[in-house]
Amino acid sequence: MILVTGATGRLGTQVVRVLRSIGLDVRCLVRKGSEYFWLNDTGAAYFFGDLRDQASVERAMNGVRHVIAAHGVRVERTGNDHRAVNAGGSATLFAAARSRGVEHVVYISCAAVEADDDVPALSSKRAAETALASSGLSYTVLRPGLFVQNFADLARRVETNGNVFLPGSPRTSVSPIHTRDLALMALASLELPALKNATVRVGGPESMTIQEAFSRMCQVNGLPAAHWPLPPSGLRALAAVARPLGRRWSNHARALAVLYSHSSAVDGASMATTFGIPLTPYDDAARTAFVERHQSEDPTAREEKVVHRQFTATIYEPGVIKWDDLPSGPPPRRD
Ligand SMILES: NC(=O)c1ccc[n+]([C@@H]2O[C@H](COP(=O)([O-])OP(=O)(O)OC[C@H]3O[C@@H](n4cnc5c(N)ncnc54)[C@H](OP(=O)(O)O)[C@@H]3O)[C@@H](O)[C@H]2O)c1
Repeated sequence: MILVTGATGRLGTQVVRVLRSIGLDVRCLVRKGSEYFWLNDTGAAYFFGDLRDQASVERAMNGVRHVIAAHGVRVERTGNDHRAVNAGGSATLFAAARSRGVEHVVYISCAAVEADDDVPALSSKRAAETALASSGLSYTVLRPGLFVQNFADLARRVETNGNVFLPGSPRTSVSPIHTRDLALMALASLELPALKNATVRVGGPESMTIQEAFSRMCQVNGLPAAHWPLPPSGLRALAAVARPLGRRWSNHARALAVLYSHSSAVDGASMATTFGIPLTPYDDAARTAFVERHQSEDPTAREEKVVHRQFTATIYEPGVIKWDDLPSGPPPRRD
């Protein structure tokens, strides 16, 4: 049994689909309010819990041999912040894995943790890496740079608004990776001896500047690469302005300033050799990522899924059914 955290996220969804496509037993640790039902067709089991709830994490670990930890916090919410989830939640997860005799843990970190800064999104991930390395578990830490999907998000804004703010330093060197390739790397990390107790910077097959990644994303999808630059200094100024409103947006702007100015390029050929998988060329990944939204962003898929009465009531009309009334095992399958 492989426990996947962050299963509803952009990367986690791909991890679950990759594992299930080869028939592996998967248990997704999902929060009760999450839109986990998008994964119903995969046949993965759900375990309702929260990384901030130690008891639920320990119960989720029963019978688990491997863990792929793909959780994260994009924008902080009250109580669900970088420190609580990335640092605290990850430490809880690794301690539970250790006490249950888990064989190997793969943790998805971030290349920008290499930057010397005190941004909570990154310092909390550094703390998680340290907790894992000192846990006594067999582990692999993967540090991806930017996802191809990030550039697809920017291009979609060009499609909708005609222009977009391009964050960071345009000349920063990156190797954008498609989340499916990263999911395959996580799977390979469970078995490859060379990746045991290793921390590896990972990325896609081609290196380019942020400017080029954005321009090529727009070009292959028939859009003008129309943008206004939003350099790190601008992002830091925005963070300072947003600070009195609370740390949520301020921290987000600070994280973007580092993520989009940290050079995260890798040697694509060595990636393919290390993990034994062919990596998707950037232009192909750019085409796929542009059309393939996270399922929850697809209006047609949304229409089909949310008509399920049980989930409609629990997810979209909180209060009609209490969270505690949710089924404890896998929900009924519709697909
Ligand atoms: N995007 C990038 O370019 C990039 C680059 C490098 C590294 N990374 C790292 O890659 C990882 C995955 O990124 P992503 O874009 O797939 O993230 P994402 O879409 O924001 O997904 C985050 C996942 O974490 C889960 N989560 C959040 N708080 C939780 C909690 N308290 N308990 C249990 N689960 C919780 C979320 O569940 P809910 O559905 O309940 O919210 C969601 O499934 C992250 O660690 C990120 O930092 C991303």
